[in-house]
Amino acid sequence: MTVIPNISTTPDGITIEPRNRKFELQRALATDWFDNDPFVTAVFNAMSMSFPSGEKNFIVSIRHYEDQITDPKLLNEIQGFYQQEGIHSREHKRYNKILCEQRGYDHDAMEGVYLDFKAKAEENPKLTPEVMLASTVAIEHFTASMGEIMLSGSYMDNVEPTIKELWLWHSVEEMEHKSVAFDVFNQISGNNKMRTIMMKISIMILLRNVLKVALKMLRHDKQLWKWKTLKSMRHFFFGKTGFVRLYLPAHKEYFRADFHPWDVDSKDLINEWQAEQNLQRSAA
Ligand SMILES: [Fe+2]
Ligand SMILES: [Fe+2]
Repeated sequence: MTVIPNISTTPDGITIEPRNRKFELQRALATDWFDNDPFVTAVFNAMSMSFPSGEKNFIVSIRHYEDQITDPKLLNEIQGFYQQEGIHSREHKRYNKILCEQRGYDHDAMEGVYLDFKAKAEENPKLTPEVMLASTVAIEHFTASMGEIMLSGSYMDNVEPTIKELWLWHSVEEMEHKSVAFDVFNQISGNNKMRTIMMKISIMILLRNVLKVALKMLRHDKQLWKWKTLKSMRHFFFGKTGFVRLYLPAHKEYFRADFHPWDVDSKDLINEWQAEQNLQRSAA
């Protein structure tokens, strides 16, 4: 009898199933929904702009290798990954459209920053399917770690409730599927050097593009050269409770040779969020 090796490392008790959610964002997106802070709001809005094309890339990079996957558990999780990312992409497309309508942003110019980069990357022969998958593994670590920040501490305490729900829903699903791309990469390559180099490159590119879009938004809103914006910018990058300092420990972990996405056990955060959702639903 042939024994199929178990490649999936998603822990028992975690299922990767999409929650088909829709959010009423009209009112929130017209405001500086993140604690009345124009800079952090713009950074998150700019990140949202990156998701439709970014999440499509993640799916494509895994689909390329799907027929080489033998573990039925991992194959099942890959389908869950496609569905979750597909719905995230759909909801962020809606988000981005509403955002641009509400605030008068030029949608194509904002999204164009990511699309132009993507078009150039597609012509680069160095970006092989293996490299693209390594980049997906890296950004999946970033999105899951970002989710852990959003769900664990007080980071989202002063966020408008509807939009907070969207970001937490997305975060929970990022945590659930955080080892799928990693497992596929390990089966088809396992090249640690490539995995870590692609983190350095991918995170720089993502950060650069997100900032570029966020600055466009702030310029349009005439908020760029305000003292409040500059103060928030400093806190975001250097403050003890700013996003960058909160994310750095997870980033450093990624460079360990024996790194695994589930070194940080997100089960409690996922279960607590789900229990809260069930409670809200039964009360409604
Ligand atoms: Fe996603
Ligand atoms: Fe993801």
